[in-house]
Amino acid sequence: MTDIARNMLFEPGAPLRGTVSVPGDKSISHRSLMLSALAVGESRVSGLLEGEDVLATAAAMRALGASIERTDDGIWHIHGVGVGSLVQPGTALDMGNSGTSTRLLMGLLASHAVTATFVGDASLSKRPMGRVTTPLGLMGAAFMTAPGGRLPLTMRGLVPAVPIEYRLPVASAQVKSAVLLAGLNAPGITRVIEPIPTRDHSERMLKGFGAELTVETEADGTRIISIRGEADLKPQTLTVPGDPSSAAFPIVAALITPGSEVTVTNVGMNPTRTGLFRMLQAMGADLTITNAREVGGEPVADLVARHSVLTGIDVPADVAPSMIDEFPIFFVAAACAQGVTRTSGLDELRVKESDRLALMARGLARIGVSVEELEDGLVITGRGGDPLGGGNSPPTIAAELDHRIAMSFAIAGLNTRGGLIIDDMSPVATSFPGFVDMMASLKGGA
Ligand code: S3P
Repeated sequence: MTDIARNMLFEPGAPLRGTVSVPGDKSISHRSLMLSALAVGESRVSGLLEGEDVLATAAAMRALGASIERTDDGIWHIHGVGVGSLVQPGTALDMGNSGTSTRLLMGLLASHAVTATFVGDASLSKRPMGRVTTPLGLMGAAFMTAPGGRLPLTMRGLVPAVPIEYRLPVASAQVKSAVLLAGLNAPGITRVIEPIPTRDHSERMLKGFGAELTVETEADGTRIISIRGEADLKPQTLTVPGDPSSAAFPIVAALITPGSEVTVTNVGMNPTRTGLFRMLQAMGADLTITNAREVGGEPVADLVARHSVLTGIDVPADVAPSMIDEFPIFFVAAACAQGVTRTSGLDELRVKESDRLALMARGLARIGVSVEELEDGLVITGRGGDPLGGGNSPPTIAAELDHRIAMSFAIAGLNTRGGLIIDDMSPVATSFPGFVDMMASLKGGA
């Protein structure tokens, strides 16, 4: 944690202008390291997000036997050990702030003959792990957890693990992925039934590495994902697209800041991730998608966002999984729109890196936004283009170890009358190193 990240002021200034790219997709980066570590031979990954969460995954995969190196050209070289051959780690696996690292790795280890202890920071240690220990327990893994099924946690995997059919009780790509990854080394077919679709990067990448995986979609949209275990994964050369969850910040910043026009290149456009862009367009955003193409099995495009008059909307609850990480910045857009924006079905936001409904409601109220906090959503009455307020001196917003809360309020600060202070920007390094510099470059852009 650097002092420079403490008590940082974000205040209005010049319009935002310019072309930027954002770091690699976090979900895809984690998965590329994990699957490469299970393929026999060398995989190469370019565009990897070099943020703290992904580096925690890299360190864990090294501790589990993979050799991982980055060369000066920015390419990551991973020599994998093969499915079933991960080794006993010598020390506890430190997951930092990263729920994805923790839950996916628990899945991988559930079908390996290793005992591993997972530890994390204060935020991660509050997050529920029962959602993965329950299905992985059915597959034969044993867990000892802190009270409430939380970290620190020690687990022992089982070989051979029991392949299961599991219906997800919560719309979570992490739970889905944990079960599929455990299934990689279980004999026979492991099946996940997903009533509400969530991000499908695991399915795409598992297939890309040569696993036998099928997806059937039923008439009501339920997805049935089956994977054949004891798989042989083949090393791959991968390119990670830019993270749409990171692109969300400069895009919303441009939409709400008068006179702005920002282009973000190379943004991942997987439809399970693009709910925010669709909802912003429904609010009247001047947001253009250009140069659509495919990179490494994932759709990618360049996005151009221009300052827009936004109008409040009702966000359908079934859109939530495709913009689950974008609600904090979406709430900032809603706060700047004309009229009322209503959201529901967002109970999951209470168990992210922080309770995002509570923190966003509290922070927006501090900058003069009328917001009602419901059990599962927020109702926000936007200020219709009037700057957000804050009283006589800039209020301080506590980020509570949540990168997306910190970045969302940093963007809000550009549209306040007198600015606002974020108490600690250091959590931003988990997913978007360079965020502060990138926003500064846009402020001075031509
Ligand atoms: C992720 C899934 C989502 C998301 C997280 C990344 C993933 O979590 O919020 O940032 O990479 O699978 P849930 O599975 O808890 O919804």
